[in-house]
Amino acid sequence: MNLEIFSLKGKVAIVTGAGRGIGKAIALGMADAGADLAIAARTTDQVETTAGEIRKKGCQAIAITADVRFKDQVEKMVADTVRHFGRIDILVNNAGGMFAVPTMEMSENQWNVTISENLTSVFFCSQAVGKIMMTQKSGAIVNIASIVGIVAQPLNAAYAASKAGVINLTKTMATDLAAYNIRVNGIAPGLIVTPGTEWLYEDPKGAISEIPLARGGTPEDIAGGVIYLASDASRYVTGETIVIDGGLITKTPMKQPSVSS
Ligand SMILES: NC(=O)c1ccc[n+]([C@@H]2O[C@H](COP(=O)([O-])OP(=O)(O)OC[C@H]3O[C@@H](n4cnc5c(N)ncnc54)[C@H](OP(=O)(O)O)[C@@H]3O)[C@@H](O)[C@H]2O)c1
Repeated sequence: MNLEIFSLKGKVAIVTGAGRGIGKAIALGMADAGADLAIAARTTDQVETTAGEIRKKGCQAIAITADVRFKDQVEKMVADTVRHFGRIDILVNNAGGMFAVPTMEMSENQWNVTISENLTSVFFCSQAVGKIMMTQKSGAIVNIASIVGIVAQPLNAAYAASKAGVINLTKTMATDLAAYNIRVNGIAPGLIVTPGTEWLYEDPKGAISEIPLARGGTPEDIAGGVIYLASDASRYVTGETIVIDGGLITKTPMKQPSVSS
């Protein structure tokens, strides 16, 4: 088998939310696979740092300050990328955030912000980049969902609903865009240790103890899946969301029967 199908050499990618955490690891991993990149998030110095690290790897990178909740900022991000690189082959919709609030106490504004941050942003970016990919008659979109888009997470209804929405948006856009040779897939990460989630791992009896592979995931664990879905290695895969969670949602929470000898 020619492993060149995993290469992203000559491809141009946008990664949203690549200033830190999972998005940064995805962007650096895609650069290792040969891609040139547009790095987007709201915090300018963080996107510039990621872009600088990519250039040191010998790939081209531009840093774009954008809030993906707003359509005008998304359209400018896409226009800036096309002006610089002339095309867009890959979009990774990674930007997002969790705002856990008990459902019965959640305000209308908290609901709207969460949906806007995690779901509407994916629609805006995919629509704007999808139009460019349709003219190219090729492209790959990878959406970062979550296992809580598949299973319930108590006290986190808006986030869970937004990620479930991302998983179906992935399927529906995949069927809409297949005729243009554009694939749309997703990754559903489990518990990944990032600056935003470190507090979850302080208690050894806490979240980690439920994971069959007995550790929290790293951002790099997600990057490998994204490279697969963005590359020609996954050329016959579309509409799929791959779970990367160390086996967390595979395991039944039921008490195991004791083994008799
Ligand atoms: N960590 C986990 O355990 C886990 C599990 C499942 C799914 N996920 C998903 O994975 C993605 C990344 O999570 P993470 O843990 O790496 O988060 P993180 O460390 O907080 O990083 C999030 C990135 O997204 C950017 N971002 C957030 N809102 C944005 C907006 N409105 N516009 C543009 N950029 C925005 C942030 O930069 P600025 O704040 O500067 O904009 C930052 O670069 C999210 O979609 C999250 O829901 C994470």
